[in-house]
Amino acid sequence: MNFRSLLALACGLVAAAPALAQDYPTKPITIIVPFAAGGPTDVAARIYGEYFSRQLGQQLVIENVAGAGGTTGAVRAARSAPDGYTLFVHNVAPHVAGPALYPSTQYDPVKNFEPIGTLAFAAHYIVTRKNFPANDLKEFIAYAKANPGKLNYGSAGAGSATHLACVLFGQQTGTDIVHVPYRGTGPALNDLVAGTLDFMCDQGLNMMGQYKGSTVKVLAVAQSARFTGLPEIPTSAEAGLPGFEVTAATAMYAPAGLPANVRTKLVNTMAAAYKDAELRKRIEDLASEMPAAGQNTPEALGAFTQKEAARWTDAIKKGNIKAQ
Ligand code: MLT
Repeated sequence: MNFRSLLALACGLVAAAPALAQDYPTKPITIIVPFAAGGPTDVAARIYGEYFSRQLGQQLVIENVAGAGGTTGAVRAARSAPDGYTLFVHNVAPHVAGPALYPSTQYDPVKNFEPIGTLAFAAHYIVTRKNFPANDLKEFIAYAKANPGKLNYGSAGAGSATHLACVLFGQQTGTDIVHVPYRGTGPALNDLVAGTLDFMCDQGLNMMGQYKGSTVKVLAVAQSARFTGLPEIPTSAEAGLPGFEVTAATAMYAPAGLPANVRTKLVNTMAAAYKDAELRKRIEDLASEMPAAGQNTPEALGAFTQKEAARWTDAIKKGNIKAQ
């Protein structure tokens, strides 16, 4: 190579580096969702993905990498290049519970990921098949107690939010209920509607359409206040199970080590998304909430992720919860 070519190459490299920094994104971005399509994580990722796509001028492609309660997708995301072209949307509880439940899992939920922002807080609801012989939570618990080992519930796999919520339900009611793992809450809900499952500890993000279509029954919401969009559904305390409160936080992360400008662009886009009235309505119409002031920053998500990691690792040890 002669001097002129070397100079041209060097100039090209110098020009390319700031272009990368300034122009992000210059190609489609993939969002890894670690569950089957059609479930709550997938739905939240698509709602935000559409917004990000409009703002960033690039396509956001959802890749459903399901399996092992979300850990298969988490490992894939953790190993992806930290260049902003692979993002990860997951529920915080299974994200942090994964390594404690699957000891061979090769990722650290805190060290290997950068928080971008929480997409939605979705309370869990006790949802039964339409023809279940109980019309309220007290009748349901009485039925479960009278039929130990007979009632089955579907989840998105061991360690998923829908599994952990039902583990808590079983512990708090002292009932013996049978877990049926799926690759996502969407396919589990299909079986609940078909009547092959008895119940789920599902999120509004998933079940709202079926509830409105009267193809399932919703007995209670697992939080301390009724959801404003579903005023007819009693809280767990009102329905006879005080203290049963579980909320899933669906969040966006990136593999750790993003270039600062890429991180800023993603964080700023998330901040703008929180102000978008149409996006907010779509989330609230699915019986879920946008993060409030104080929860709507990457720092708040980072702190919450660390807190949840300690909480679920402890709960898994104490409850002797196993993946199988
Ligand atoms: C979960 O249970 O963690 C999620 O609801 C799974 C899903 O999005 O399908």
